Amino acid sequence: MIKVAIMGYGTIGSGVCEVLESNREVLARAAGQELDIKYVLDLRDFPGSPVEKKIVHDFDVICRDPEVKIVVETMGGLEPAYSFVKACLEAGKHIATSNKALVAAHGTELLAIARKKQVNFLFEASVGGGIPIIRPLYRCLMGEKIKEITGILNGTTNYILTKMDKEGTSFDRALKEAQALGYAERNPEADVEGYDTCRKIAILTAMVTGKEVNYEEIPTEGITKITDVDFKYADAMGTSIKLVGSARMDGGKVHAWVAPLMIGKDHPLYAVSDVYNAILVKGNMVGTTMYYGSGAGKLPTASAVAADMVEAARHIDSNISIGWSSEKQAIAPADQAVYRFFVRVSGTYEDRRDMVEAAFGKCKVVELEGLDEFAFLTGPMKRSGFMENLEILKVELTAEYQKVLQVIRAE
Ligand code: HSE
Repeated sequence: MIKVAIMGYGTIGSGVCEVLESNREVLARAAGQELDIKYVLDLRDFPGSPVEKKIVHDFDVICRDPEVKIVVETMGGLEPAYSFVKACLEAGKHIATSNKALVAAHGTELLAIARKKQVNFLFEASVGGGIPIIRPLYRCLMGEKIKEITGILNGTTNYILTKMDKEGTSFDRALKEAQALGYAERNPEADVEGYDTCRKIAILTAMVTGKEVNYEEIPTEGITKITDVDFKYADAMGTSIKLVGSARMDGGKVHAWVAPLMIGKDHPLYAVSDVYNAILVKGNMVGTTMYYGSGAGKLPTASAVAADMVEAARHIDSNISIGWSSEKQAIAPADQAVYRFFVRVSGTYEDRRDMVEAAFGKCKVVELEGLDEFAFLTGPMKRSGFMENLEILKVELTAEYQKVLQVIRAE
């Protein structure tokens, strides 16, 4: 029997307890022995709960107990999670965490400590909740050169965009509904500004390149500027708009970014709706693979944590070679990546055809009834070239008291 401790008895931590109880036999068979919760660390008491007698308030009780071999970190945030996790690894305990902020900010150091101490720092639940993605990368796809990872990595924003798409709801209303349903936080900034997706794509990029990725270098745009009018155009064009995190490996260069992306019906991510997440991984031999499921939520995320506990139990005396080194992976300037661009312009197309064609050549143009504006979709071009031509167009439009209303990257 292996003694384990859980730090943080919130949604995910209590979910881990539930998974360990419900799947006790399955997990014992997989791990080769039972996983027994010795302590649950939280500031609060939980009278009447199944872990009432296991609650401790002092971290040192866990850290100093040599019987505890595996520690789960489901506290979230950077502190005290970072200090506690570091101390546990230094004390020779394995870690299973769901905390993407911790992994993105301190993963390099924590992985190095785990290597030195011959234990494991595991974080399957930090990206894509219950979707297997970290383990497929270091096990199933270990013989592949990964060319691209593109994913819908945030359930809250995918829920909001799906509402806007399917029901014509405004961003503000969709956000309020997401909050009422408990999907979005009271302060939704990390989700809607794309910061959560940014940390997740940084972790995946580091997994693929084997080098440290500074998430602050990844250009990140959220969904707060996407409107219901954008979705009217998307609908007319047979497309949808999704918040996507993407990394393309091109020779030694990595183009990584987070932004809303307009995708067509034939794109594998098109049908990924509501709070679901999906991650597309392209390898040089295997081609395209995709991983789909619940990207957040109590039991799906807890299931991924439990699987990491089994992984740790099976490698209790050794370090699995995963993650990345302290060598830095540069992120190539976003303006070198090639995309199509969807642009909305005020006024009528008829009067502006020449200036649009002079700037971008022949484009697909959409005019919707009842709107004093039009939209066009460029051909594939580097972002740098697009931005230069867009500036020229803006100057010409200003002379006519018109303006560019929206720009969205498109596949
Ligand atoms: N806020 C995140 C989401 C939680 O909506 O996907 C899971 O990381």
